[in-house]
Amino acid sequence: MSGYAITTPIYYVNAEPHIGHTYTTVVADTLARYHRMAGEETFFLTGTDEHGDKIAEAARAQGSEPKAFANQISAVFRSTWETLGISFDRFIRTTDPDHMHAVQHILRLIHDKGDIEFREYQGLYCVGCERFLTERDMQDGLCRDHERAPEERTESNYFFRMSRYFDALGEKLERDPDWIRPARYRNEVIAMLREGSGLEDLCISRPKSRLDWGIELPFDENYVCYVWFDALINYLAGLGYPDAPDWEERWSGVEHLVAKDILKPHGVFWPCMLMAADIPLYRHLNVHGYWNLDNRKISKSLGNMVSPMVMRERYGFDAFRYFLLRDMSFGLDSTFSEEALVTRINADLANNLGNLVSRTLNMTARFSGGVVPEPGPTGELEQAVQDAAAEAAAEMDRRMRAMELHRAVEAVTRLIDATNKYLDRRAPWKAAKEEGREEEVRTTLYTCCQTLRAIGLLLAPIIPEAASEILKRLGQEDLLATARLPADAAAWGALTPGTPTTKGDSLFPRVELPEETE
Ligand code: MSP
Repeated sequence: MSGYAITTPIYYVNAEPHIGHTYTTVVADTLARYHRMAGEETFFLTGTDEHGDKIAEAARAQGSEPKAFANQISAVFRSTWETLGISFDRFIRTTDPDHMHAVQHILRLIHDKGDIEFREYQGLYCVGCERFLTERDMQDGLCRDHERAPEERTESNYFFRMSRYFDALGEKLERDPDWIRPARYRNEVIAMLREGSGLEDLCISRPKSRLDWGIELPFDENYVCYVWFDALINYLAGLGYPDAPDWEERWSGVEHLVAKDILKPHGVFWPCMLMAADIPLYRHLNVHGYWNLDNRKISKSLGNMVSPMVMRERYGFDAFRYFLLRDMSFGLDSTFSEEALVTRINADLANNLGNLVSRTLNMTARFSGGVVPEPGPTGELEQAVQDAAAEAAAEMDRRMRAMELHRAVEAVTRLIDATNKYLDRRAPWKAAKEEGREEEVRTTLYTCCQTLRAIGLLLAPIIPEAASEILKRLGQEDLLATARLPADAAAWGALTPGTPTTKGDSLFPRVELPEETE
């Protein structure tokens, strides 16, 4: 079986992590956790992109050397992800020696093949984008993304003869319609190729006289490598290319995750680079939309940020994760508001999930001495809940693999809903007061405990801390180390009668907006 590898973009170190980076990283973390639980050999790669004028400029503005500056911000990214429990296997930096080695290796390979050429180039350059702009990139003389005027520049530079591979790329897009997904982004890449969109050969160098903060070209010491060519290679370097024996196996299952802002480098430059280097293409490019704030993209350059650390402090990181995954339809844009976050937490986590957990465990304590009860005969309602658990597990598996994470989350939410409704129908708090209905009460609570176990397992990739707490309260703390999804979530009856349970505090207390944002 081939491995599963999930990557995030490597983030620029010119600003600190915000909601946009957090979304991509949380999606990658959720997928990594899911695939690990599915028993697949999983590798999760993230990191920082540290070379180029933009970083050199940011360092200068702060009065630092680029390397010292990059060290500082890269460490903030790393420690933020660690504090938030992101389960990455490698945090790669483009200043890491093995990355620099991989970049030089590929440059040499493509140069030897005759796909790198020395030419003069003149154009309008945007420092924010780190590249020369085409007409389409501009509006009213300004860069669309950065809202600043580009500079006129002429330079002799090295060019990657990327256009040689456009036909092959077009064929790949035809042959493998799911390769770039969702389909709207595949169509965008097809349109880029069809219309030209200013797509030509790619300038991959900068003269050292102007910029020396980069990886030196192995065939010309007067130049450093252009940032995108450098940055994209992290995906290979991070998996061990070219020296580790297992890099090819990891690479064979690589899934890239990016937002639509960097579709072109990932959908065009990167596959052309891979073809030139005779390396197989990635398995999928998965593209999501933007989180917007007041109808503008949240980005460092525009300076409006939502900090994951602040969200964690206010609401707990699981709650923020849940919101991110549930409230963005993967592929489309979403608008962030703290109000929507609070509403979502209260409705789905405090009311729906939190209530199910506390009702089930409180009544198990009260009516069954704090242990999973022995059930009596089951009826249609019990069968329906059991079927719902199996369906949720199967649907979650399908949705995760199709990169429809909001639907995967919804599948579990539906199961929680169905179990709450079942509990309302059986109303064991009433039945317990009536003579002769003890067995029915036990059956109801047994059924809820079984479903809660399934819910705990299904939520583990989505809200890992809360899921592990649910399982712990069901006396299943060791289960996560061995459980397999989706099978174990659908395995009814695995929670044996007599297993001790604990009530615990409210899992997700209701939250309110902090005063200043109201
Ligand atoms: N360094 C390059 C990527 C090189 S990958 C070989 C870069 N860095 S970045 O810091 O600007 O990060 C861009 C990525 O951050 C987006 O593709 C996305 O993953 C995430 N996001 C940044 N802002 C975002 C939103 N407002 N919304 C959603 N995600 C966004 O580009």
